[in-house]
Amino acid sequence: MSIKGFLFDLDGVIVDTAVFHYQAWRRMANELGFDISHEFNETLKGISRMDSLNLILAHGGVTLSGERKLELATQKNEWYLELVNQMTPDAILPGVTGFFHQMKQAGRGDGPIRCALGSVSKNAGLILERIGMADDFDVIIDGNKITHSKPNPEVFLKGAAELGLQPAQCAVFEDAVAGVEAAKRGGMFAVGIGSPDVLTQADLVIPSFDHLTITELLAAIERAQGMGY
Ligand code: BG6
Ligand code: MG
Repeated sequence: MSIKGFLFDLDGVIVDTAVFHYQAWRRMANELGFDISHEFNETLKGISRMDSLNLILAHGGVTLSGERKLELATQKNEWYLELVNQMTPDAILPGVTGFFHQMKQAGRGDGPIRCALGSVSKNAGLILERIGMADDFDVIIDGNKITHSKPNPEVFLKGAAELGLQPAQCAVFEDAVAGVEAAKRGGMFAVGIGSPDVLTQADLVIPSFDHLTITELLAAIERAQGMGY
């Protein structure tokens, strides 16, 4: 089925806030007396704030009350927002602006490509404002509109539905293992952004949007679909 919609993750795809999440969680873990590695951090990408906290505490062998966990999640978010609030449109990842420009102009003969944000972050609206991309999406689904974090497909299924498209008409752009799994469970084409060694479930992996033309991308998707992805 030909692709008529693009669903974009935010953190690590549009903007490099994935690094800020890692810094803030690492600071919290260090204060609790343990560390989290880059490799462990991969398992946190695309996972909601509270689910991430629970994974980190289990990793460090720390048990805390629900009240203390809420305090820590709030503290982490404050540290994270200190970093987010310094962001400007310069933080947009290489190639993203050019890709959006091409996307707005690209037609498929039977209509333009529509796009949605699909992020589990409750800070997505703020981040889009900071980088000047709040008006660039036809639909925005963020952590305030969903009940299940990735790898549950809810965020992408809602995005596709609000775009008025079938899941099979959508391609998802994701940097997270959990996000790629969510796309696949939702019945969408999954484009991984990063390394094929990490994003093993993706139908296609690209290093970034830098130097990517929409024509090349759509051709690569069609080739992968032809191979029965
Ligand atoms: C996802 C990130 O986009 O949002 C996760 O990949 C993060 O690392 C999650 O935990 C929730 O973000 P926030 O901004 O609501 O704490
Ligand atoms: Mg991400």
